[in-house]
Amino acid sequence: MTTTLNINGKDETVDAAPGTPLLWVLRDHLKMTGTKFGCGVAQCGACTVHVDGTPTRSCITAHDTLEGAKVTTIEGVTGSAADAIREVWVKNDVPQCGYCQSGQIMAATALLAENSNPSDEDIDAAMSGNICRCATYMSIRRAIKEAAG
Ligand code: FES
Ligand code: FES
Repeated sequence: MTTTLNINGKDETVDAAPGTPLLWVLRDHLKMTGTKFGCGVAQCGACTVHVDGTPTRSCITAHDTLEGAKVTTIEGVTGSAADAIREVWVKNDVPQCGYCQSGQIMAATALLAENSNPSDEDIDAAMSGNICRCATYMSIRRAIKEAAG
């Protein structure tokens, strides 16, 4: 089936079977490989994108449910929260292997866009669904607090 998805502000027409997860539409159909596959069952956060600004697991979100929605991926996330998060990520040398980091940045950006001064508890709640096998959690929390000023 053919659907039109708005991805990073641009309409993209894709031909994919009904129910195909957005993750595979991004990676296989549109060759946007910044969004990663981790678990495939909404447990790790590696595949996190924004749907209308909300962090969303693209591995379990069927592309054909997104007609009219605005999807933002790591390739296209912009704005003051995204700029601040990118800057502190680099400054704090957050990534280790880097595999989980697209998802971490998408979750952190959504948090900061909604709450410019998050507490430790807010950060833990927003980031708890994003697993990092390299255990960068302390660096992530430090960076988010720094971005919040
Ligand atoms: S790949 Fe989607 S949450 Fe793990
Ligand atoms: S940086 Fe390696 S999995 Fe998070």
